[in-house]
Amino acid sequence: MLDVARIRKDFPILDRMVYGKPLVYLDNAATSQKPRQVIDALVRYYETYNANIHRAVHCLGEEATAAYEEARARVAAFINAPSPECIVFTRNTTEAINLVAYTWGRANVSEGDEILLTEMEHHSNLIPWQRLAQDKGATVRYIGLRDDQTLDLNGLENVFDARTKMMAMPHVSNSMGTINPVEKLAGEARRHGVMSLVDGAQAAPHMKVDVQAINCDFYAFSAHKMLGPTGVGVLYARRELLEEMEPFLGGGEMIRKVTFEGATWNDIPWKFEAGTPNIADVIAFGAAIDYLNEIGMDEVRAHEMEITEYALQQLGKLDDIILYGPRDSQQRGGVVSFNVADLHPHDIGTVLDRHGVAIRAGHHCTQPLMRRLGVSGTARASFYIYNTPQEVDVLVEAVKAARKFFRNDTA
Ligand code: ALA
Repeated sequence: MLDVARIRKDFPILDRMVYGKPLVYLDNAATSQKPRQVIDALVRYYETYNANIHRAVHCLGEEATAAYEEARARVAAFINAPSPECIVFTRNTTEAINLVAYTWGRANVSEGDEILLTEMEHHSNLIPWQRLAQDKGATVRYIGLRDDQTLDLNGLENVFDARTKMMAMPHVSNSMGTINPVEKLAGEARRHGVMSLVDGAQAAPHMKVDVQAINCDFYAFSAHKMLGPTGVGVLYARRELLEEMEPFLGGGEMIRKVTFEGATWNDIPWKFEAGTPNIADVIAFGAAIDYLNEIGMDEVRAHEMEITEYALQQLGKLDDIILYGPRDSQQRGGVVSFNVADLHPHDIGTVLDRHGVAIRAGHHCTQPLMRRLGVSGTARASFYIYNTPQEVDVLVEAVKAARKFFRNDTA
């Protein structure tokens, strides 16, 4: 069991008040809060060894380079990547997916080809593929949802055809919390000679991820959703793919030799990291990974299952609430999306905010999914290691207050 009281002491922001109420931060799917250890790593870098990396012959440059590359090794180990060279740092998950769509996609997708996605994609795993398909004259097809808001995988073996080139899917839905069987999906894709990309933005922060066990070709996620700073994304890719892919951005650092006529490229992963990277934030991301490793990802997952179960139970007692996503906590991450009959999710979010409760309300960057669910949006509470059952109680009371405020309801 997580020692949540001890963990909370590491997060300075959790002491603050909002409109005179203690902050109840339940917007972790959007971004997580940062422990003192991560903030300290940033300050330590800027105060004691700030320098550019891979270029300097001086002591500070060497220390910064070592810390940056150490962080890469920690990220690789965290997702069981076979080596640090398979880890490319980007700005965020979105950029990691765009990198694949632009480089691998442009070289391998042609007119008449097909890209397979799901109906629960975040826009970041949708727009890059739609744009690629438009440019190339390819098509995008979607795996649909069952009534319980899991993917409809009946007849999965028949969804691929000779023109399917890529299957991209979320590991965990950011809108509903559904955990997808990515191992099975990536395995099926591989059997049909189709590449697979997993959007792991909502999974890597919350559960043990093993990219070799999933056996996907690409896996993308972001530091800021897992206690790290903003501005750092990760693209894991199989080594052979990174070797054969063209660079995404051109400039300093990604080259080996440059002449007036042309250039040759650096080794992987630096071939994909043009320009001065986000050195400080990558290093602090290493501290975030240390923090999570110390807790243990199985413990993180167990805590979130427990708190999600409790939230579903307590919110489920409200007679006019609509809860989204599968009911089985094995099949869902720490995201609870809901609507309260005729209340607008933004109105719920605004009243909750006045109670100190931060949630996200709206379409959650999944407009097609919202349309598929027949709603304009949902209210979404999302949990992490520092959330408590008492905070769920505050959430439920605040939802009741919203209901009362908008309806003059006494229930
Ligand atoms: N992708 C983030 C979310 O779902 C921003 O809230």
